[in-house]
Amino acid sequence: MKSVKCTIDKDYGIGEVDPKLFGSFIEHLGRAVYTGIYEPDHPLADEQGFRKDVLELVKSLQVPIVRYPGGNFVSGYNWMDGIGPKDNRPRRLDYAWQSIETNEVGIDEFVDWSKKAGVQVMAAVNLGTGTPQNAGYMIEYCNHPSGTYYSDLRRKNGHEEPHNIKVWCLGNEMDGPWQTCGLTAEEYGKKALETAKIMKWVDPAIELVACGSSSPAMPSYPEWDRVVLEHTYEHVDYISMHRYYENEGSITDFLASFADMDDFIKTLIATADYVKAKTRSKKRLKISFDEWNVWYIKKQTRFPWEVAPPILEDQYSLLDALVFGGMLCTLLNNSNRVKMACLAQLVNVIAPIFTQKGGGVIKQAIFYPFQQVSLYGRGQAIKTLVNCPSIETKIYGDVPLVQIAATYHEEDGNVTVFALNCDQQEEVELSLDMRSFEDMRMIEHLVMDGPDLNAKNTFAEPDKVKPRSVKILGNEAGAIRKIVMPKLSWNVLRFSKK
Ligand code: AHR
Repeated sequence: MKSVKCTIDKDYGIGEVDPKLFGSFIEHLGRAVYTGIYEPDHPLADEQGFRKDVLELVKSLQVPIVRYPGGNFVSGYNWMDGIGPKDNRPRRLDYAWQSIETNEVGIDEFVDWSKKAGVQVMAAVNLGTGTPQNAGYMIEYCNHPSGTYYSDLRRKNGHEEPHNIKVWCLGNEMDGPWQTCGLTAEEYGKKALETAKIMKWVDPAIELVACGSSSPAMPSYPEWDRVVLEHTYEHVDYISMHRYYENEGSITDFLASFADMDDFIKTLIATADYVKAKTRSKKRLKISFDEWNVWYIKKQTRFPWEVAPPILEDQYSLLDALVFGGMLCTLLNNSNRVKMACLAQLVNVIAPIFTQKGGGVIKQAIFYPFQQVSLYGRGQAIKTLVNCPSIETKIYGDVPLVQIAATYHEEDGNVTVFALNCDQQEEVELSLDMRSFEDMRMIEHLVMDGPDLNAKNTFAEPDKVKPRSVKILGNEAGAIRKIVMPKLSWNVLRFSKK
C-alpha cells in the first residue's frame, strides 16, 4: 500500500473561506427555471409556482449565492420583459439556446425564490445587446429605494422594499464568439468600465464582477484578462473565470482536472497582480470562479424554439463525483483569492439536482461532494503540506496522487480534511500529522467509491451513488492519525474537540 504524508497546522492558514465559494447558478436555459425551480402545475408547487421539493434540496446544500439569469442567455435578454403583470409579458426568442422564453419568471420572482431558498442573488446585466444605460435602469429598479421611474415601477409591481442585490456580473463570457454580440477585449473593457461607473453611481454598495476568459483554451487567454483589467481594475471587485472538464478518454487525466484548475487560478491571479502593479493600485482583486463543473453534452440535439427543452441534462457518474471533489479541494486551497464560485448549474442543466416534469426529484452523484464541502468546508482553509507520489498524465504532466484540502472551524472546534485518492489500483494510507490539533478526535470518515465508476443515480435507483460511512479504527486523540483511503475514492475526514 502506498503511503501519503500530510501535515496540517492551525498556524499555517490560507485564509477565511468566504461562504460565497459555495455559490451556484440558475440560467434561463433548458429546464433550469421552467420545470426546475418553477412549475406552477406541479403538486408540490407553492402559491407562487416554485417547487417545494426543489427548494428543500437547494436549502440542504446551504448555497449562499445564486447567479441569475445567465450565462449566455443574458447577452440577448431584456430584463424589462420579465417584470409586471405576467399576462403582459412577451414570449421571446432566446438566441443563446434557441428556445422560447415565456418570461413568466423575471427578476422579481427570482428574488422571491431566493428568499425562500435562503440565498443571495448575484445578478448579471446584458453587455451583449444591452447598453450601459439599460444596466443602470436595472440596478435602479432593483436597488434604488423610491421616487424615480424604475424604483417606483418596482414598488408598483409589488416590491415596496428594494431588492438590494449586492453582487453584479458585467455581462457573461464576452470573449466568446458564441456570445450574442461578443466583443474584443478593448471593446468589452471600455463598455464594462462605463457600465460599472453608472452602476456604482446608482448604488455604491454593490460589488462588480468583470468577465475574465471563458476558458484557458480561448486563443485570447490570458491577454483578454490583462486588457480588460487595465480598463476596469479600479472599478470592479472581481474577475471571473469559467472552466468545465470532461472525460476525454483517460481516467487518469480526467482525475487530474484539479491540477489544471489550480494552474488556471494561479495564472489569473498573476495576471491580475500584474495589472495591480502596472496601474499602481492598492487594491487586491478577488477571483469569482463563477462557472465550474464537469460537463459533457456540449453539442446539443436541437429542440428549435421550444419552451424549456431538455437541454444539457448531463447525468453524473461516480467518476464525475470524484473529479468534482478534487476540484472543490482546489477551490478551498485557493480561497485566499477565490472569494466566490458558482457551481454551474443548480437544477437540471449540468446540475446536482434533477427533476421530472410533474414528477420527482433526485440528487445526482455530484450533489454529495458539493454538499459535504459546503457544510464542512467553512472557517479557515489550512495549508496541506503533502508528501506523496505523483501520477503521470498526458495533458497535465505529473500531478499528485492524492489531492487534499483542510478547513478549521474554530468556533465549532472542528477540522475537516477532504481527500481524493486517484490511485486506480490500491488503497492509500494517509498519515495525517495534526500537530496543533492533538486534542481532536475523529468523528466521521465518509467515502464515495465503488466498483462501477459509471454508476449513476436515476429515478429508478436514486441512491445508487452516495457516500458511505466507514468504521473509524483507532479513535485516539494525538498528533499522527493513520487513515486508509480506498482506491479511487473521495474521502471526508471529520475531527472534533467535542
Ligand atoms: O453553464 C452553461 C453555459 O456555459 C453558460 O451559459 C455559459 O456562460 C457557459 O458557456
